[in-house]
Amino acid sequence: AGLFQAKLTAAPTTVRFAEGVETQVLAYNGMAPGPLIEAFEGDRIEIDFTNDIPGEDSTIHWHGMPVPADQDGNPMDPVASGATRGYAFDLPAGSAASYWFHPHPHGKTAEQVYRGLAGIFLVKPKADPVPAAYGDTVLVFTDLRLGADGAISENSMVDLMNGRVGDHVLVNGQKNPVLDVPLRAKRRFRLYNATNARFLKLSFGAAAMTVIGTDGGLLEAPFAVDDVLLAPAERLELVVSFERPGTVQLQTLAYERGWMGPGKPNDAGLALLTVNVSDTPGEPMPPLPEKLGTLAALGTPVVNRRFVFTEKMGMSAGGMEMGFFINDVAFDMNRVDVTVKAGDVELWEVINRADMDHPFHVHGTQFQVVEHERDGKVTPPAYRAWKDTINVARGETVRLLLKQDLPGQRMYHCHILEHEQLGMMGIVDVT
Ligand code: C2O
Ligand code: CU
Ligand code: CU
Repeated sequence: AGLFQAKLTAAPTTVRFAEGVETQVLAYNGMAPGPLIEAFEGDRIEIDFTNDIPGEDSTIHWHGMPVPADQDGNPMDPVASGATRGYAFDLPAGSAASYWFHPHPHGKTAEQVYRGLAGIFLVKPKADPVPAAYGDTVLVFTDLRLGADGAISENSMVDLMNGRVGDHVLVNGQKNPVLDVPLRAKRRFRLYNATNARFLKLSFGAAAMTVIGTDGGLLEAPFAVDDVLLAPAERLELVVSFERPGTVQLQTLAYERGWMGPGKPNDAGLALLTVNVSDTPGEPMPPLPEKLGTLAALGTPVVNRRFVFTEKMGMSAGGMEMGFFINDVAFDMNRVDVTVKAGDVELWEVINRADMDHPFHVHGTQFQVVEHERDGKVTPPAYRAWKDTINVARGETVRLLLKQDLPGQRMYHCHILEHEQLGMMGIVDVT
């Protein structure tokens, strides 16, 4: 097993998104999105984190990773401005997947993320079934809203209600970057929705897309699709085949996520990435294997629980009031909401009784969705997969199987980060 050591410093940094306009962002090691960390299953990870954000606590949360609770950057473990702390954990066998990291300080997560703090953490397997000839290209989607002066504006009331949706969708920090590939190339892409609140329904147009992996690693078998939906915090691994010469674009398609109030973004047809496919074929590509691996079944649940999302909007003497709740309560850092036994398989039923979609996320583990129910109609997922975030659409119920192996307190929450901040979060204590 290897030892991976790194230092990450969060600090304000000035960047130029537009000619002559300076924007102050928050960055890890001067980069927004942050540096890409790549390690292997079995590695020991030791990362020293320095919070150089003036006047604000921060943390680093290892989104999706099976790390001990006290190393997971929860809001209960803030790192004060000016302080340094070490995070250390081991990457177990079978943990290869597309993870990421971002801050999680109480009440400040949404803002620190939209100001630029997010990075990619790839855990690679010892032996990869996906041909190396496909490459391994990370595409991180973030979105940005700049004022006329180039500054990143604060959240408005509409942002708090819907989650902040920026004006520019960036891929790896760039607007519509260009990729050149030879004719008949196959490419492996890891798609990350690192936006606070934007739903991304995506298609590569004429280029055929196959899903090979999700939040928690590879599927058992490739699954061909026409388009994919990435809710905030979700990831997908795709193989895309470029069989015809010319230009192909990764584009957004319309998706109705439930929008409240003014300013609904009209998002269909945004070009996120341009791929130029050359006239000449490259080296012949090996085929994608028909079997990628085995997904362990979680077994029969011993406990059933329900989590109900609700929103409250209304006018009062003080102005507009809003609240976002799970099981009728808003987040309280000093309250344990759920206690589970380490190693127990549980069935969690997540019910959305609100007017917009809410992506549900649990820390410290990966789960498997069993079924979706909407208007009395029950449908299994298209494929079995490891997930740490699942969109629960308006009026929908999602049932999932989950097992927490590591003791300690974990968060579960809506990953529209403004909703998390406004209370749509709880604590599960694993004992
Ligand atoms: Cu990306 Cu609490 O998580
Ligand atoms: Cu997380
Ligand atoms: Cu939400």
